[in-house]
Parts: sequence; C-alpha cells; structure tokens
Amino acid sequence: MSTPTRIAKLTLDDKTYDVPVMSPTAGPDVLDIRKLYAQADVFTFDPGFTSTASCESTITYIDGDKGELLYRGYPIEQLAEQSHHLEVCYLLLYGELPTAAQLQDFENRVTRHTMVHEQMHNFFRGFRRDAHPMATMVGVVGAMSAFYHDSTDVNDPWHREVSAIRMIAKIPTIAAMAYKYSIGQPFVYPKNELSYSANFLRMCFAVPAEDYVVNPILEKAMDRIMMLHADHEQNASTSTVRLAGSSGANPFACIAAGIACLWGPAHGGANQACLEMLREIGTVDRIPEFIARAKDKNDPFRLMGFGHRVYKNFDPRAKVMKESADEVLNLLGIHDNETLKVAKELERIALEDPYFVEKKLYPNVDFYSGIILEAMGFPTSMFTPIFALSRAVGWIAQWKEMISDPAGKIGRPRQLYIGAAARDYTPVSAR
Ligand code: CMC
Repeated sequence: MSTPTRIAKLTLDDKTYDVPVMSPTAGPDVLDIRKLYAQADVFTFDPGFTSTASCESTITYIDGDKGELLYRGYPIEQLAEQSHHLEVCYLLLYGELPTAAQLQDFENRVTRHTMVHEQMHNFFRGFRRDAHPMATMVGVVGAMSAFYHDSTDVNDPWHREVSAIRMIAKIPTIAAMAYKYSIGQPFVYPKNELSYSANFLRMCFAVPAEDYVVNPILEKAMDRIMMLHADHEQNASTSTVRLAGSSGANPFACIAAGIACLWGPAHGGANQACLEMLREIGTVDRIPEFIARAKDKNDPFRLMGFGHRVYKNFDPRAKVMKESADEVLNLLGIHDNETLKVAKELERIALEDPYFVEKKLYPNVDFYSGIILEAMGFPTSMFTPIFALSRAVGWIAQWKEMISDPAGKIGRPRQLYIGAAARDYTPVSAR
C-alpha cells in the first residue's frame, strides 16, 4: 500500500483540508481523496475517469506522452522482439519472467487445458449460425461458470489459479469454435504439441478433409498480435472486469463482462470498424471526402483506428504491428490490393494533416491489426474476438490483483445529481 509523500491543501469556503499525495514508481502523483467526502462533504467529478486512479497496480504502465508501454517494467518492444505470448502471460500473471523450468511447467499447464467440456459443443449449437462471434463469446465465456463451477470460489487461491489457467487455455478454443460455428464447419479440437498461436490458427483454418500446416511467419505474427494486446492497464474492459469482480462475482462472469465492454467500436470493436471503413472508402480518390467528414463537428463519423485516450505521441503497439503487417503482406505476396492502398494513403494523409497532427491522432494498434488479420484470411467479425482472447490474460491478472488487494472495496462511483429535487407525487387524475 502506498504511503503519502507530501500533503496538498484544499481550501473550500473558509476551511482548509489536507489531501495526501501519493507518488507512483512512474507517472504523475496522485491525490488521495478517499477521506474528502467524510471531511468536507464533497465528491469529485470526473466523467470517463480521465483523471482518476481507480486502484494501485503493479502490472502495466503506459506513458502516453512518450509512447511507452511496460508489462511489469519490461518495454513492449523488447518483449515483442525477444519473448512470446505464453511467457508474457506468465510475466503478467506472476510478476516476473519465468525460469526455463517454470516456463515449461506453465506451458504444460496451459496446453493441457485447451479442450472445452464436451457438453459445451451442444451449448454452441443453441446459437443462430449468423450470430456475431463476440455475441457467442460473451455467452460461452459467461457459461464457463456453469461448466467449471469447481473453480469459482474467489476466496480460494487455488480456485483462482485454476480458473486463470482455464481461462487462458480455453479462450482460443472458444473463439475458434465461435468462428467455425458461424461458417458451418465442424469444430477442430486443439492439439497440445502446437504453440499457443499455431493451435489457434489450426483450430480456425483446419478442416477434417485436409491437413493444415501452420506457416511459421503467420504463427509469429499471430503470437505478436496476442502479446501486443495482452494488457493495457485500466482501460474500459479491464475496469469493467475489476468492477464486476469487486462484488465477488466469479472470474468467468467477470471476463464475460469484459468481453461485452470490449465489443464497442470505441474500444476493441475498432479493428473490425476500421477495416469496414477502409472498404467503405473503397478507393484512394474518396479519402478526402472521409477526412473532411472526420473533421466536421456536425458529423459523428470518426476515422476508426486513429486516436487513443492515453497515447498522445504514438501507440508503441502500432509500431510493432506495422512491422508485422509488412512481413505478413510480403509473405503472402499482397502488395497492391485496394484496401491496402487506401490504408497506406489514409495513414500518410492523417499523419500530415494539421487536424490530426494538432489533436495528436495517430494510427493505433487496431489500424494495423485489422490489415494483418484480413491478410491471414480472418473475416472482420473475428477481429474483436482475437483481441478478446489476447486480452484474457490481462483481465485475469488484473482480476487476481484486485481480489488480493487488502484495500479492495466494491466499486461504487458517486454522481453529480442534476435531476428534479424531492417533490410530492400527484395522482394521475390530478395531472
Ligand atoms: N477521428 C476524428 N477525430 C477524432 C478521432 C478520430 N478517430 N478521435 C478523436 N477525435 C477528435 C475528437 O472529435 C475531439 O475533437 P474536439 O476536441 O474538437 O472535440 C478530439 O479528437 C479528442 O477526442 P476525444 O473523443 O475527447 O478523445 P478520447 O480520448 O475520449 O477518445 C478514442 C479516444 C480512442 C475513443 C477516440 O480517439 C476514437 O474514437 N478513435 C476511433 C476508435 C478507435 O480507433 N478506437 C481504438 C482505440 S485503441 C484500442 C483500444 O485500446 O481499445
């Protein structure tokens, strides 16, 4: 628990109150206002939580001005270059990089829990074939608490550990099943000998009629997508998971809530929305029309895949993702399809246009991930499920941290009420 490093003074009317100031390892100092309501009878007002730290955390750090993202202190660029997704999962969950033996044990535990309860196959069959895979995932991940209720006691550290492994191990299987179901193909069972990312690709693209050999460049690109999306501190879906978990709800229900939040186009749904926007623009000559719309205050249209609440310099994930996009497109010999041409030109114009430069609207991770996923053969509806399965480890690590925090409380924001003052009810005959 942090201790105050100095005291700020708040003067309100004729009284002065002490406000303790906490200093983080990195980032701006934080005013501790927990006692303010009791002392001064005031709340603070911060819609969208743009200036509010909701918890202490040791997992991920973002410096939006520098374009820096650290997982447990390690820069994302170094992890993307030298590590791989399962090692990053271990790091996020347990706080340190694993030894070789710890890594092997962790990989074994994950890869041996990739199958889902056979009864879940029937559960899938209840969905309409044309359901969006995110809709299916919200339902099926939430239903894990019905299939794995032997690991839902949030007060039991062993239950928490088992549920974390189950979540990380099974969510790619669930996402792949949602995809297979939506295209009318049989489910493909996981294969323990494959890497986490290769297994996911195979479960999505293999069919019983034909062998499927995973291309190592695509395997690496998929692994990077997973790693780059693994955690992102207190974003909307992670805060949703923490808020749901603060009531003591089981982890599967909490992650289902996170998936629901991620689905929105301002968050994880942006990768799908971005590619759909590129297709809607269609040809390079139509770009100015869309740029003009993005700048028009009376038009709700936004350039999807641009801008970020925290990154105001560049999104470090986007930099790594751009490299992967180039590798994948070269491998697949995709150089001049129309969507790609539109993406490249849009990126160039937006990086030079004063509106985007002044507002610090850079291409974000979703701009490039959609391009890679489309090249790999995924339909746009699978983009957000892939974000969700990658983020599962971040959600579960943050949930575990929240449950073990001795200062933890049920989340319960207050409000600035601007509705009617108390008034007497009038019977309908008198209105
Ligand atoms: N296109 C055009 N204008 C934009 C855009 C955009 N993509 N993003 C922000 N603006 C403008 C906005 O109109 C506002 O202008 P003004 O100050 O004149 O009113 C200004 O920039 C600040 O925008 P904001 O909405 O206050 O910023 P925010 O921090 O609340 O929103 C955002 C961040 C990511 C929701 C927003 O930039 C956006 O909607 N981007 C498109 C969706 C997207 O790509 N989301 C994925 C984010 S990365 C993946 C993830 O972490 O989920």
